[in-house]
Amino acid sequence: MIPAPQNRGGGELRPHTIHVVELLASGREADVFDIGDNRVLRRSRDDRGVEREAEVMIRLAAQGFPVPAVHHAAGRDLVMERVEGPSMLTALLTEDLDVTTAAEIMTTLHTRLRQADILHLDLHPDNVILSPNGPVLIDWSNCTEGPPGLDPAISALILAQVSVGGTDLADLAHDLLRVFAPRLDITTELPAAVRLRETNPSMSAQELADLGKAADLVRRLSGR
Ligand SMILES: Nc1ncnc2c1ncn2[C@@H]1O[C@H](COP(=O)(O)OP(=O)(O)O)[C@@H](O)[C@H]1O
Ligand SMILES: [Mg+2]
Repeated sequence: MIPAPQNRGGGELRPHTIHVVELLASGREADVFDIGDNRVLRRSRDDRGVEREAEVMIRLAAQGFPVPAVHHAAGRDLVMERVEGPSMLTALLTEDLDVTTAAEIMTTLHTRLRQADILHLDLHPDNVILSPNGPVLIDWSNCTEGPPGLDPAISALILAQVSVGGTDLADLAHDLLRVFAPRLDITTELPAAVRLRETNPSMSAQELADLGKAADLVRRLSGR
């Protein structure tokens, strides 16, 4: 995927084959590298091919949905446009963004996903980049089809899990959930969201143990 510099015929290295590759992020599910030319390589850790998520991203981009442009997808590797800007999480932490605006952004993205008839299933503040052209949704590895109410239920549950998780982000997650929760129906598909999170391989034992508590918080803050 990343072309190795080749020394053809003993001459000088050809400049256009040399890439400075910088590890941008190492998340739960993928390593992301800046490979130059305004592109990133997202190398997934599981063997599932990225072709399907790339197809969804390409289809959504054609509909005007804010996703990174896809350049290449093969096996575990997705090469896409590098989106400039802080994540919504970073902007919340630096107080460049307030929770009301963040909840509005999440609600708008969910509404647009519903119109496009696709589930993202991992829409949270660290997966939204605030680009100069507006918020862009990244990390499509969980995308699928299904009941539209599942997507906002998952978002709410993720925030609730952080909220009960006892980290530095707990209060922020709680504040955001309080504003986000009443805006969409997040309870109809909450049992399905809990079941889905239970089977998520990236969850720790503590996170699994606290899922019920998180679901209770979602119900309480949804006001339904
Ligand atoms: N297209 C992109 N442009 C800029 N940064 C990106 C892009 N895709 C991913 N990243 C960076 O890499 C991180 C991890 O990527 P992500 O797709 O969210 O994988 P994970 O499943 O590991 O969270 C993101 O939080 C972001 O910082
Ligand atoms: Mg992510």
